[in-house]
Amino acid sequence: DNNVWIAPGPTDVRSPCPGLNTLANHGYLPRSGKNISVPMIAEAMLDGFNIVSEALTQAAKFGLLSSFALATMDLDALKLHSLIEHDASLSRGDFALGDNLHFNETIFSSLLNSNPGVDYYNATSAGHVMHDRLAISLATNPNTTNTPKEFAFRTRESSLYLAVMGNPLTGVAPKQFVEIFFREERLPIAEGWKRSNTSITDEALGAIDNIIMANSNWTFTQMCEDLVLGP
Ligand code: HEM
Ligand code: MG
Repeated sequence: DNNVWIAPGPTDVRSPCPGLNTLANHGYLPRSGKNISVPMIAEAMLDGFNIVSEALTQAAKFGLLSSFALATMDLDALKLHSLIEHDASLSRGDFALGDNLHFNETIFSSLLNSNPGVDYYNATSAGHVMHDRLAISLATNPNTTNTPKEFAFRTRESSLYLAVMGNPLTGVAPKQFVEIFFREERLPIAEGWKRSNTSITDEALGAIDNIIMANSNWTFTQMCEDLVLGP
């Protein structure tokens, strides 16, 4: 039953991605977190979140490079730095500072404290959070990698939390749902969350991305970086 959230057991593995972890914690992906194929991810994204995104199936293919297996990946291997994983994450530390895999409440405080005075996050607040998180990385991690690639991934991850926990057409998401998604990697069904009725498409995510980018006051630190195509 996919309504049932079960925390990962001692031999189960999880990723730096709250989306994939939530799908595994609800059984849309194997609860082991192991031997996951691209079609399994595509099916789980659709069933769990109503996501129909070519960009995300492409990201899933990218994820295969974290593994030596021919056609599957393990969730923990997705922490491979600079494949998809990047600095200035919303809820995880920078690779060079120690732990780029597990949820970190201190790092999450930028998002948690954003959009004060109202009970929702939106694309404007998400842009401000991206700016904050990058400023903190640049101030504390001399190895921060911040190229157009990281900016594109970070922006899309922000539109994703708004779209899956809120309204994919407006990019408005209840704070309570977003917090449960990051902290517990759980679908907040008991709190009133429902899977989006409208398909979450690249077009919808792109429209939210544009507002986020406009509010993130972003500049690059480097233009290109070492190419990471395997462990
Ligand atoms: C990061 C959501 C699918 C791999 C993230 C983050 C969010 C997110 C919100 C940012 C976490 C943070 O900054 O702390 C989602 C949702 C998905 C999804 C809702 C829909 C199912 C995928 C897919 C892949 C992937 C298909 C590739 C296999 C990653 C990785 C990160 C990440 C490696 C870590 C990036 C980092 O913060 O350093 N995801 N994601 N995600 N996602 Fe996903
Ligand atoms: Mg990261």
